[in-house]
Amino acid sequence: MASILNPDLTLTIGKIRLKNPVMVASGTFGFGEEYEDFFGLDQLGAVIPKGISLKPMMGNPPPRLFETEAGIINSIGLQNPGVQDFIQNKLPYYRKIKTHLIVNCFGNTQKEYVELARRFDEVPGISGLEINISCPNVKRGGIVFGCDPKMAYPLVREVRKATTLPLIIKLSPNVTDIGLMAKCSEDAGADAVSLINTIRAMAVNIHSRKPELGNIIGGLSGPAIKPIALRMVWEVSRKVKIPVIGMGGIMKAEDAIEFILVGASAIQIGTANLINPRAGIEVLHGIRNYLLEKRIENLQDLKGSAYVG
Ligand SMILES: Cc1cc2nc3c(=O)[nH]c(=O)nc-3n(C[C@H](O)[C@H](O)[C@H](O)COP(=O)(O)O)c2cc1C
Repeated sequence: MASILNPDLTLTIGKIRLKNPVMVASGTFGFGEEYEDFFGLDQLGAVIPKGISLKPMMGNPPPRLFETEAGIINSIGLQNPGVQDFIQNKLPYYRKIKTHLIVNCFGNTQKEYVELARRFDEVPGISGLEINISCPNVKRGGIVFGCDPKMAYPLVREVRKATTLPLIIKLSPNVTDIGLMAKCSEDAGADAVSLINTIRAMAVNIHSRKPELGNIIGGLSGPAIKPIALRMVWEVSRKVKIPVIGMGGIMKAEDAIEFILVGASAIQIGTANLINPRAGIEVLHGIRNYLLEKRIENLQDLKGSAYVG
């Protein structure tokens, strides 16, 4: 039973109940196995592995990571083994972990997204899908799905029809009005939205005069993006009724609590995993200690409770 001495950290997304709000963000936690020596993954609210596409992808040319003053720019290019290999060789590992597996996936066309949703719907052991819509639509001249509500709405609606799994739409910050993208995801049937993905960025070397990344442009993540992510989570949480999962530069529990105060129901830890493999579990302990210290019985009572008018 929950009490001020034993606060309730649970939450619901669609039909799944999470034991706590801490998840690890796609692409920053490998396939989970890599981290099991550092803490028991069972303790997390959910694990989200690297994004999966229909066909295997080799990713971008190196260098693919560049460290900035307050974060990293990556241009991994969504390298992954593809859906078939994932289901055959990676999925069995998650059966022994007693927490939710949320699969992150993406396509180059709406058809590919729908096909992926169908494939994941058919196999046991998956609790939900996180759909990364920050990808260019190859059929529509490379316009990113997540940047145009006219492309995002039908995409989410068709993916919704293709699966019974809870659907989380992962939003891109590279838009003018992220609230609009969230609302259109909700209207199309999403069970939750997660944000933010990385912010388009670049770096150049003044000696070689060459870009630091093989792909020239990459995505910025880490502490540098936290204030932007917070603002976006706040804007989105005022626009939609479905749960908002916040991320972007969460390095410690205090950061996570800020996201919850501006309206996030849950949070994801990304870049922090690359610096401190125990970041997820430390954030979880820190959130629990904060609730104990402030005598708050239920984490969801904290949600959106910042005094912002
Ligand atoms: C190296 C790296 C790889 C990533 N790969 C993915 C991915 O495959 N799919 C996805 O939706 N997001 C991916 N992301 C974005 C993160 O999941 C997260 O949205 C972003 O990094 C912001 O959170 P953070 O500042 O805590 O890292 C990746 C981020 C990094 C740093």
